[in-house]
Amino acid sequence: LVQVNLAFIGFGKVAREFARILDSRRALLEDEYGIEWRVTGIATASHGVIVRADGIDLAKALRLLEAGDSLNCIEGDWTGGDALEFIGRVEADIVFETTPLDPVAGEPAVGYIEMCLDRGINVVTANKGPVAFAYRRLKALAESRGVGFRFEGTVMDGAPIFNMVDRCLPATRLIRFAGILNSTTNLILSGIETGQSFDVCLEEARRLGILETDPDFDIDGWDAAVKAVALANVLMDVDLRPADVERVGIRLIDPEYVRAAAREGKAFRLVARGGKIETGARITVRPEIVERSSVMGLAKGTTNVLVIQTDLMGETVIVEESPGLQQTAYALLSDMIGIHDGMNRKK
Ligand SMILES: NC(=O)c1ccc[n+]([C@@H]2O[C@H](COP(=O)([O-])OP(=O)(O)OC[C@H]3O[C@@H](n4cnc5c(N)ncnc54)[C@H](OP(=O)(O)O)[C@@H]3O)[C@@H](O)[C@H]2O)c1
Repeated sequence: LVQVNLAFIGFGKVAREFARILDSRRALLEDEYGIEWRVTGIATASHGVIVRADGIDLAKALRLLEAGDSLNCIEGDWTGGDALEFIGRVEADIVFETTPLDPVAGEPAVGYIEMCLDRGINVVTANKGPVAFAYRRLKALAESRGVGFRFEGTVMDGAPIFNMVDRCLPATRLIRFAGILNSTTNLILSGIETGQSFDVCLEEARRLGILETDPDFDIDGWDAAVKAVALANVLMDVDLRPADVERVGIRLIDPEYVRAAAREGKAFRLVARGGKIETGARITVRPEIVERSSVMGLAKGTTNVLVIQTDLMGETVIVEESPGLQQTAYALLSDMIGIHDGMNRKK
C-alpha cells in the first residue's frame, strides 16, 4: 500500500460528496489500487482552515461543515489562516481545488493551483476557471515540476472528455465541437417546455446542488462559455479567454417561445459551439432551436451532450444522462487514481 496524503482547498458540495465517495471506497482503493489515503489539510473561505499531518477525522469535518460550523473546532497542527498560508504549510501529495468559479479572471484559484504545482504537489480541480484562464501556464508549470494537473470534472462532470480524447483518440485533431454543457440552463429550458416556471426550475437546480455559487453565471451563459474555452484551450491548442466567447444566456428567453417551439416538435437549448479558424478558434454560446428528435433535443433536465468532430474519427457523441453531484465528485476520484497510477501523460 502507498500512503497518499490528500488536501482540499474548498470543501463545499463537490468536495464533501467526494469525501463521502472516498470513505465508501476505502477498501476498493486499497485492494485494487494500493492507495491508502488520509486527509492532511482542508481550507475553506469562512468555515475554517486546518492542517494535521497524521490525518483529519473526515467524518467529523463533514459533520461540522454540514451543520454550518467551523473546522477550527478540530484539533490540528495548525488552524486558522488563509488558503495561501495553508498551501505553504500542508504536506500533501494531491490537492483538490474546488473553490467557486470566477469567470472574470479565474482567481484566486489560478494562484492557488500555481502555488501548489510550484511546491511539487499534484493538483486535481473541478473548477473550470483555471483551465480557461491559465491552462498553458499551469500545464507548463506542472511539467517542469514533474507533477500532474488534472481537471476532468471541469466539463461534463465525471464523463470522460479530456481523458477520452487524450487516451482513446490519439493523433486526432479536433476540428469542432457543439454541446449542452450547463445542466442548470438545460433543466430550466426543458422544464419550461413542460409548463414549469423559470423560478421553479431554478429552485430544483438549487435542490440538486448543481447551481454555481453565483447562479447568474449559469443563467447568463458564463459557465457554458468558460467550459467551452476550457475545451478549446486543451483540445484545440488555443489560448482563448471567456471574454472572447460570443455569449447570450437564457435570462431573456420568453417562456411562450419555448412552449411554442415544443408544440412544433422543436426545442430551445443553450448550445456552446467551438470551431477551428485560421487565427485560432471561434466560440459561441447561445440559445438555439433544435429538433426535439436530435441528440441535443433529446437531452432533458440536467443531461449534458457533447459532439466532437475530429479529422480522423469523424463525429463522436458523449451523453451524460441526468448527472448530479456524485458525477462531479467521481471526476475527482478518477483524476486521483489517474495521478496515482502515473497514467497521466501530462498535458
Ligand atoms: N456543484 C456542481 O454540480 C459542480 C459541477 C461541476 C463543477 N463544479 C465546480 O466545482 C467547484 C466547487 O463547486 P461547489 O458546488 O462545491 O461550490 P460550493 O459548495 O460553493 O463550495 C465552495 C467551497 O470553496 C470555499 N471557498 C470559497 N472561496 C475560497 C477561497 N478564496 N479560498 C478557499 N476556499 C474558498 C468555500 O468555503 P466557505 O463555505 O467557507 O465559503 C466552500 O468550501 C466550482 O468551481 C464549480 O464551478 C461544480
